Amino acid sequence: MARKIIIDTDPGQDDAVAILLALASRELDVLGITTVAGNVPLDLTTRNARIVCEIADRPGVRVFAGCDRPLTRKLVTAEYVHGKSGLDGIALFEPTMPLQSAHAVDFLIETLRREAPGTVTLCPLGPLTNIATAFTRAPDIVDRVAEIVLMGGAYFEVGNVTPAAEFNIYVDPEAADIVFRAGAPLVVVPLDVTHKALTSRAWIEQLRAMGTRVGNAVAGLTDFFERFDMAKYGSQGAPLHDACVIGYLLKPELFTGRHINVTIETAGEFTTGMTVADWWRVTGREPNAMFLGGIDRDGFYAILTERLARL
Ligand code: BDR
Ligand code: CA
Repeated sequence: MARKIIIDTDPGQDDAVAILLALASRELDVLGITTVAGNVPLDLTTRNARIVCEIADRPGVRVFAGCDRPLTRKLVTAEYVHGKSGLDGIALFEPTMPLQSAHAVDFLIETLRREAPGTVTLCPLGPLTNIATAFTRAPDIVDRVAEIVLMGGAYFEVGNVTPAAEFNIYVDPEAADIVFRAGAPLVVVPLDVTHKALTSRAWIEQLRAMGTRVGNAVAGLTDFFERFDMAKYGSQGAPLHDACVIGYLLKPELFTGRHINVTIETAGEFTTGMTVADWWRVTGREPNAMFLGGIDRDGFYAILTERLARL
């Protein structure tokens, strides 16, 4: 039976690739996509999620709009990475598939209460505002979550938006703190993994050569997205951060990590949003997360390419 997932997201080119990978994979049953403010404001992430579903020719996927700002802070966005639309790199259009009327937080709560305990996996790909709000409003759902597999944080790579913090955690550290303390089984896909999952020119050309709508879209999105990271890091490609979350669901054997304690810094003078990962197990604090560190890059791109070709 397919694994039931909810994708919580702020598309974002790499979020878009993650959504496409999930929709292309029969092992996964996407119960819904919930959107959150992050890379760009909520109205754009919500529009972008629907555009991605239409590109995949899956207008029946249910999309729910969620929180338009972090729990307590002012929203920080990342147009300098993703472009003004959040999905720069392709010709955008107004989606025609409906937006669901329920709020994303209500959808999360209702779904987790309705489905059998331990059967729904949450895949957060943006700031954790929706998930934290759902857990705070309905603490009974925490024990019903099968697993949370999220993109966020860093240990060896430290930060990408400040010297100490990764974007998704930095935007809403209070929300991240709630989620990391909640007690649900947690898998963290940090920059340590995603910075090893770089695109390559040959891969982009391979996608374009597919000659499909999805192949062209991912090539266009990646072309745009690459520029920022290549200039910043001097790397040969861009990290498809969020797609690694879905890659982990499909093939966990491609990843390595440690079960450790991870605490979120919410009050640092210079380090707010840092994932304080006890990689060397020096604190004695109880492990609360499988914190990944390694990825078989070629294995990941092989399955990504194979799946995208199905759409
Ligand atoms: C994360 O931040 C966003 O810009 C990306 O979509 C990804 O989720 C990487 O730090
Ligand atoms: Ca994202």
